[in-house]
Amino acid sequence: HKSQAWSALFSEPMSDLVKRYTASVGFDQRLWRADIQGSLAHAAMLQRQGIIGAEDLADIRRGMARITQEIEAGQFEWKLDLEDVHLNVEARLTQLVGDAGKRLHTGRSRNDQVATDVRLWLRGEIDGLSALLRELQSALLDLAEQNADVVLPGFTHLQVAQPVSFGHHMLAYVEMFGRDAERLADVRKRVNRLPLGAAALAGTSYPLDRQSVARELGMDGICHNSLDAVSDRDFAIEFTAAATLAMVHVSRLSEELVLWMSQNFGFIRIADRFTTGSSIMPQKKNPDVPELARGKTGRVAGHLVALVTLMKGQPLAYNKDNQEDKEPLFDTVDTLRDTLRIFAEMMRGITVNRDAMEAAARRGFATATDLADYLVKKGLPFRDAHEVVAHAVKAAQQQGCDLSELPLPALQAFDGRIEQDVYEVLSLRGSLEARRVAGGTAPDNVRAEIARHRALLAG
Ligand code: ARG
Repeated sequence: HKSQAWSALFSEPMSDLVKRYTASVGFDQRLWRADIQGSLAHAAMLQRQGIIGAEDLADIRRGMARITQEIEAGQFEWKLDLEDVHLNVEARLTQLVGDAGKRLHTGRSRNDQVATDVRLWLRGEIDGLSALLRELQSALLDLAEQNADVVLPGFTHLQVAQPVSFGHHMLAYVEMFGRDAERLADVRKRVNRLPLGAAALAGTSYPLDRQSVARELGMDGICHNSLDAVSDRDFAIEFTAAATLAMVHVSRLSEELVLWMSQNFGFIRIADRFTTGSSIMPQKKNPDVPELARGKTGRVAGHLVALVTLMKGQPLAYNKDNQEDKEPLFDTVDTLRDTLRIFAEMMRGITVNRDAMEAAARRGFATATDLADYLVKKGLPFRDAHEVVAHAVKAAQQQGCDLSELPLPALQAFDGRIEQDVYEVLSLRGSLEARRVAGGTAPDNVRAEIARHRALLAG
């Protein structure tokens, strides 16, 4: 078994079962580009430091260019016998360029190599995800702007509470996704550190220049402790935590879309290209996309738990356990990427039913708090006003109408301070206009917030 990197010591070949059990090439081959990028930076540094010759470096570059072509063309032959992406690429390199290929691994271990590859790969993915978060925010801002003056019932406990503008409601999600982007930017700082040079665990006796490799790879610095560099995956865990939160935000939005689309609400329509039919019920249009996103949130949260659990029992330094970091991490990236992409598009395909939203707000006495506030401004203590309005709501309920539909004398029977100007206060629009406090739902605020977010996205 000459193909194995450590075989001289072994008296018999590895069992096929073990080979399959320990191999990761089936999934870690997606790291190939980062693997080659890291190897090229390492090789260039080895040459600068006089550890390998200029010819070796030229050979390595030529071989890696060829391997890149082969992989891109789908012609590279991945071998399970070679266990993982690192050994596959290195073996092919040696096949192509001979001794120079065998010199590449000088002063390096797969332990610092894989940690570097995962970081480089994840850094690129974080940049892609951040761009998608901005796209989703921009779609939500468009939707908010188009429906800035639409009023919907705001809920607490899923009971009608107070009117809010639909734009304000969308801006709540813009805030959430903005924090998700901030979290990713923050995680990126700790992802973007160089493990190479830590070698297996203790560092190396070759005079490596780690700083220059970090610079060449666009990293913000090196990992300062070799044991830590090869063994911790906290960067992957915190990325997955940030991804989980982003999915949780998508999931809350999904829940609302599903609810709003149901016949009992009828608040929105989702464009047909984002809905699915039923194989038995001809009338159906189902919100499968938001439902799946809600479901996939559980899957990503599961990956977070998997990674934390993977890490918690590991003594320093590298352990093979860490090979299990990849599938949860990869699937987290894939799931979040696909979800953000589809939501950015789907949110642009939503039509809002203004009448249904406003009718629902009226049915639920959404302006009852406004009547209490009105009485407070006329001198009644808030607790007394609260009680007066409860009586008025009860009367309106009995008559099957909204507070704003009670005639003035009826309202005055509850409190003599009530005058004609109460009807402006009891209107949905009056209620919105009144909430001018910073962060409130007043239309002017909403317009200003849309502009603020647009500037943030542009900047
Ligand atoms: N495939 C391995 C991983 O993903 C690479 C590092 C292997 N190192 C080792 N000493 N077996 O972690």
